Amino acid sequence: MSETAIEFNHVQKIYYLYTSIGFKELLLHPIKYRREKRKRALIAINDITFSVKKGEAFGLTGPNGSGKSTILGLIAGVLKPDRGTIKTNGRIAPLLELGAGFHPELTGRENIVLNSIILGMTKKEVEKKMDEIIEFSELGDFVDQPIRTYSSGMLARLGFSVAVHIDPEILLVDEILAVGDENFQKKCIDKMMSFKKNGVTIVFVSHSTDQVHKICDRVARLEKGKLLSIENA
Ligand SMILES: Nc1ncnc2c1ncn2[C@@H]1O[C@H](COP(=O)(O)OP(=O)(O)OP(=O)(O)O)[C@@H](O)[C@H]1O
Ligand SMILES: [Mg+2]
Repeated sequence: MSETAIEFNHVQKIYYLYTSIGFKELLLHPIKYRREKRKRALIAINDITFSVKKGEAFGLTGPNGSGKSTILGLIAGVLKPDRGTIKTNGRIAPLLELGAGFHPELTGRENIVLNSIILGMTKKEVEKKMDEIIEFSELGDFVDQPIRTYSSGMLARLGFSVAVHIDPEILLVDEILAVGDENFQKKCIDKMMSFKKNGVTIVFVSHSTDQVHKICDRVARLEKGKLLSIENA
């Protein structure tokens, strides 16, 4: 395990969707449909096995809904597998977005403090890095506005900036480049390349084949929750 950063072993993740039922069904079967809602299982990822070596840059590609973000959530530990096992080795940079670590009513600055402390930094360390984080994010005065007022690109900037400033050993990047403007994309790619040089493990989700091939050593292709292939990039 020491050379391995991430290991998935026959992992399955199921989401339960609730579908409403008709009024007639409710009248005819009041007990059966007492809860008004029925659960339907959606297998988001199915029987996935792979491992990522320490220092490797691993790409995840596949159509919308194929399970890429679900895999990142499982690596980050914000989701739990229904079957199989996941092992990780090293400090993981968070996947910060609304609903996952970021609080909409707090300002950008307050969210930086909140998340850095949750991730184990002391208040002093956060204060020391604060200017650097804000500068990297290029949010300017907006950093003191509640983040519910941010555009998706601004949120991504904040998330990426916090993630790269906590000295991660495993960096998870979910399509940040899709929402960032050209300038910020370039900055993110440069940052990832320098992390790579320093031996940080990277899992990078992207729809851009160019970017995946530029950054990654190997690329996994997903489709409908199944792992189709893993190839050298
Ligand atoms: N919280 C959730 N509740 C129910 N179903 C979900 C949830 N999150 C994801 N899913 C479902 O799980 C499947 C995989 O979703 P996931 O977000 O991992 O896909 P993705 O590959 O990241 O897609 P995209 O390219 O659009 O970001 C999809 O069918 C999606 O509808
Ligand atoms: Mg996704």
